Amino acid sequence: MALDAEQGQLQPAPESFLAKDLVEDISRDGIDPARRKLLQNALAAAAAAAAAAASMVAPSLMADDDPDIVNLPSWTRSLGKPVVANPYGQPSPYEANIVRRQSPGLTRTDQSSVSFTPLQNLFGMITPSGLHFERHHQGWVDIDPRRHRLMINGLVETPLVFTMEELLRMPSVSRIHFLECGANTGLEWGNVAVPTVQYSHGMLSASEFTGVPVSLLLDRAGFDRQRATVLLAEGADGSSMTRTINLENALDDAMVAYGQNGEMLRPENGYPLRLVVPGVQGVSWVKWLRRLEVGDAPWATKDEVAHYVDLMPDGTHRQYTSIQEAKSVITAPSGGQKLLKQGYYDITGLAWSGRGTVEKVEVSVDGGRNWRPARLEKPLLPKALTRFHFDWVWQGDEVLLQSRVTDRTGYTQPSRAQLIEARGTRSIYHNNAIQTWRISGDGEVHNVQLG
Ligand code: MTE
Repeated sequence: MALDAEQGQLQPAPESFLAKDLVEDISRDGIDPARRKLLQNALAAAAAAAAAAASMVAPSLMADDDPDIVNLPSWTRSLGKPVVANPYGQPSPYEANIVRRQSPGLTRTDQSSVSFTPLQNLFGMITPSGLHFERHHQGWVDIDPRRHRLMINGLVETPLVFTMEELLRMPSVSRIHFLECGANTGLEWGNVAVPTVQYSHGMLSASEFTGVPVSLLLDRAGFDRQRATVLLAEGADGSSMTRTINLENALDDAMVAYGQNGEMLRPENGYPLRLVVPGVQGVSWVKWLRRLEVGDAPWATKDEVAHYVDLMPDGTHRQYTSIQEAKSVITAPSGGQKLLKQGYYDITGLAWSGRGTVEKVEVSVDGGRNWRPARLEKPLLPKALTRFHFDWVWQGDEVLLQSRVTDRTGYTQPSRAQLIEARGTRSIYHNNAIQTWRISGDGEVHNVQLG
């Protein structure tokens, strides 16, 4: 896979996507024509050889062309590795390039930084835990679960303190949700067309989270239903991460989660306990969660007055803009990749909405002049990622690829021009504009900003 040259301080995406480059050549029986020809040659030669001399083995004349077909590869002729050679399973060494990447220089220290999920290399709707993006304000911490506590206090009858053991014994739920940092796609506000989807949209991941509903914990503590309107969530790391959460969101589907994709949370993602607030921007998903305080007014903490506010064109700030509005992006083909041949491509990407399920996704190959419906993978889950596909034949011409989503509320993802008209250009957060990838005649894919 050819890559864009490094732009600024950003690292290029790894080589990848080879399977997709070959899609055009794969016929209905799934065999590459070149490989089928080879097989036919081999069979014909074998038949001829068998007729000439029964002792002759399958032809070796093809060995140089394709040793895996004519000569059995070493892994077919040898004993494999024993069980538990990898007590905790790891990806194949051939996938070593598929990793979270940091953008050096984006932040002053590596502790207050971001690592981006390689969206261009993933399938389906779940992010493998080891590739879940990270956003820390003061580094990640390794917490001993035996020493961790969750306190519920504030406007409650009985303040409570839970150990992890107690939380693990309570009734639990497991649900799949996306987690998107409010700053995802933030660089695009400033006309910085970052080279790959990993950097433009990679502060987005999705997992199956398991934990205890917040409503259950608040009920146990006997929260004041007359006065309570908000919760304060506080993390145990050094960043004093504290966020005001609407009680409505908290009682609806929020949970204190200890599980991620069937196992305990990864330390980077908040082990042993984090808040999950589906549909709400990532900063509210407080990691290493140690306290929930019930209150009757927003706390206006540093992370909600100095940060995570939206500067509007008239100079005012929007605060507490927590819901992640509907958004979609084509992940392949995407920036930094190259189409090697003309022919069929499965255009694929992700769509999501903080307000519920995805209703439809449309794809344009002409910069938004014409739109056609994409196929959505099931199940369509609320506040989760939806994988979409669009069958397409590339004829070598220049193309402007876009996707746009409409969610179940009827809201449609805005174009970049529409977003800028409403919000100006001085924001950092909540950029959900339609993304454009330009495919040039030589097949190279670049991030471009239309409008
Ligand atoms: N919680 C604590 N305690 N400390 C943090 O730095 N970062 C927040 C949020 N919760 C943060 C935190 C931000 S800004 C985001 S986007 C998400 O965690 C990122 O979660 P992740 O690192 O699991 O992807």
